[in-house]
Amino acid sequence: MSSYSLEVVRKDLGKTRIVDLPEASAGAGEAIFRVDKFGLTANNITYGVAGDIIGYWQFFPAEGDWGRIPVWGIGTVINAGTTDLKEGDEYYGYFPMSSYLVVKPDHVTPRGFTDGAEHRSALPPTYNQYSLMNEENGFDRQYDTHRMVYYPLFATGFILDDYLFDNDFFGADKIILSSASSKTSFSLAFLLNKNRDCHVIGLTSTGNKAFVEGLGLYDEVVTYDEVESMDASSKVAFVDMAGNRKVLERLHHHFNDNMVCSCGVGITHWESRDGQDPATLPGAKPTMFFAPTQFQKRGQDWGPAVLQQKMNDAWIDFLGSVDSWVTINERSGPEALQETYQEVLHGAAPNQSFALSL
Ligand SMILES: NC(=O)c1ccc[n+]([C@@H]2O[C@H](COP(=O)([O-])OP(=O)(O)OC[C@H]3O[C@@H](n4cnc5c(N)ncnc54)[C@H](OP(=O)(O)O)[C@@H]3O)[C@@H](O)[C@H]2O)c1
Repeated sequence: MSSYSLEVVRKDLGKTRIVDLPEASAGAGEAIFRVDKFGLTANNITYGVAGDIIGYWQFFPAEGDWGRIPVWGIGTVINAGTTDLKEGDEYYGYFPMSSYLVVKPDHVTPRGFTDGAEHRSALPPTYNQYSLMNEENGFDRQYDTHRMVYYPLFATGFILDDYLFDNDFFGADKIILSSASSKTSFSLAFLLNKNRDCHVIGLTSTGNKAFVEGLGLYDEVVTYDEVESMDASSKVAFVDMAGNRKVLERLHHHFNDNMVCSCGVGITHWESRDGQDPATLPGAKPTMFFAPTQFQKRGQDWGPAVLQQKMNDAWIDFLGSVDSWVTINERSGPEALQETYQEVLHGAAPNQSFALSL
């Protein structure tokens, strides 16, 4: 059977190619995964945009100017080699958009393992962990596709909700979320709406306004060209999924010292990165949110089991609603993958999401 990989030009994410892969082979201590399915959203495009800064290109190296963008997905062990993995077992984790992945399992436990491959050793540990997909490990298999598409985004929403609460919302009267139509933003809005008594404003593009309003999760929905119409006398905390420098600049100048928190999370507007140096903007200094720090804090405060339980409970609630907002499209084959990648790169309709296989 043929094996493929989708590669993109690292400095020109619109250029892609499908590469035929050689037959997979496992060296000493290595195992081979078939990559079964994966989710693809703007989050994966951001891995490409921030690939050099955070090291995302190093997970699954490619030749020359080409790179392999990581995705969250499910893989099956098809050749365990001499490792402690079991053929046929399925794992959730970080994969390339390829037919297979060769890993070097380390710290194998009944819950999962770490890929100990040399080229991944200096990268953030969260991305090197693979979880065995069974009930004891918290996987409800009827939601496999939801897990791949939404869970990494929902988990970020979960910890952002907690981070804002843990910091008394930085004294803000209102919370503003940009790219309010994104899955990460509406996961956060879902949790703020459910858990907290606060006013949440969704900031979005004109074309996505109706979708955002239809979610019913935001107290107000404002488009990017209406930024200056917001009440500047309120103290606001801004959680930025869009990374649009012009919008950031306008918000900071509009709210001035009433911008009490400016928390960078994403770069969905990857084509709009020109604007005033964020460090020189009035109001709170824009900072990048680093989810593992807050996860670590809550792991210590509550213990890992309680943290996991809280996340699972919130996830189950979210699963009860998300299908009424977004439809998951399952697509397969190299051509479908290339087309879907272009769709996501240029901003897919927010009421559609994608689960892919090669
Ligand atoms: N730091 C972290 O730990 C972390 C974790 C998870 C996610 N994130 C980030 O959060 C962001 C959202 O990710 P997601 O997967 O939830 O996104 P998503 O659901 O795929 O978001 C789609 C939305 O993003 C905007 N968008 C996407 N592509 C665009 C384009 N080419 N031009 C203009 N707008 C575009 C549009 O929203 P609007 O019209 O509403 O702007 C669109 O409706 C990503 O940047 C991701 O990396 C960060």
